Amino acid sequence: MSARPPLFTPFSLRGVTFPNRIVLAPMCQYQADDGAPNDWHVTHHGRYASSGIGGAIAEATGVTAEGRISPGCTGIYRDDHVAGWKRVTDLYRRQGIPSFLQIGHAGPKASTKRPWDGAGPLDDGSDEPPWQTVAPSAVPAREGWHTPRALDQSEMPGIAAAFAEGAKRALAAGFDGVEIHGAHGYLLHSFMSPWSNRRTDLYGGDLAGRMRLPIEVARAVRAAVPEGTPVLYRASCVDSAGGSLTLDDTVALAAELRAVGVDLMDCSGGGIPTGQRLAAQKPEPGFQVPYAERIRHETGLPTMAVGMITDPAHANAIVAEGRADLISMARQFLREPAWPYRAAQELGMEDPASILPKLYAFYLRIAA
Ligand SMILES: Cc1cc2nc3c(=O)[nH]c(=O)nc-3n(C[C@H](O)[C@H](O)[C@H](O)COP(=O)(O)O)c2cc1C
Repeated sequence: MSARPPLFTPFSLRGVTFPNRIVLAPMCQYQADDGAPNDWHVTHHGRYASSGIGGAIAEATGVTAEGRISPGCTGIYRDDHVAGWKRVTDLYRRQGIPSFLQIGHAGPKASTKRPWDGAGPLDDGSDEPPWQTVAPSAVPAREGWHTPRALDQSEMPGIAAAFAEGAKRALAAGFDGVEIHGAHGYLLHSFMSPWSNRRTDLYGGDLAGRMRLPIEVARAVRAAVPEGTPVLYRASCVDSAGGSLTLDDTVALAAELRAVGVDLMDCSGGGIPTGQRLAAQKPEPGFQVPYAERIRHETGLPTMAVGMITDPAHANAIVAEGRADLISMARQFLREPAWPYRAAQELGMEDPASILPKLYAFYLRIAA
């Protein structure tokens, strides 16, 4: 094995370099105070800022108050949200790990309970009151969920502007870039999918219409951030079983996003129409890697693979075989924050401690 397995080689997007290819996936914590991150978020990210990862994406964060998934979700829609995020980005900056904020709008899947309260829609019996949700069409995300209000065409520039403002605040908070949340049945995915988008105006109908809002959002975000700042886009490359968005549609979206200056597609899936959590679907390891592989090869847009990647040799092979540029993990990191160090050891990297903070590396080298 060479001194540097492909998983541990650097990777650059615009002016930002990831020291290795292992990225912390966005994970909602449902613990924010009126949109503001707090000690919990600092603690969560502290586990990974000291773990040797190559990059981090902080959780789905509302660009408007009503765009939050739950009342416990973080926001970036007010200037006073910046200070809390700054504490998180400082952790990563000290270790030379680029961090990104996932900016999103939950659309028809907003106004929900926290997962441990059932994750269903907030109702009049909830401690926090439900709010009116919005979507391309007045179609509930799941049976029994809120009926969203169909957005008027005149409101689309305001949505794009909210994403752009959120991106600017994210950079003010010290993030190195942003990831636009276009997955999991939330607003932008709900525009992409014919299942949830039943519009007949400019923002619906054929693929060009369904892609219009996601592309306008990407263009607005790109224009709001400096040239050297990467803009990532997380897509649900296909709907859940029973949905109607195809991988062909997403390949076309990726090409359009590349043309407006998006730098990488983070290739996820699902969320429409069943809204089932990925965990409930019992997928195979790496089940979404083929999306990242096809998009990368057919459009030239760099990709990130995610979903049941837990084995270091598998992660390394995905990068080595050119199936994706980066890999990202969520649940394995909940189990094992020290995964990158174990991966470096198992892949035979020379001086695996070199990926860790200097102090940890110093003592682990003595112990080796
Ligand atoms: C606790 C938790 C919270 C999550 N929150 C988000 C989120 O905020 N945004 C998002 O796009 N995906 C979210 N996901 C999905 C993950 O980013 C990831 O795509 C998914 O869990 C599959 O990767 P894994 O098999 O490594 O867990 C979440 C997953 C978990 C387990």
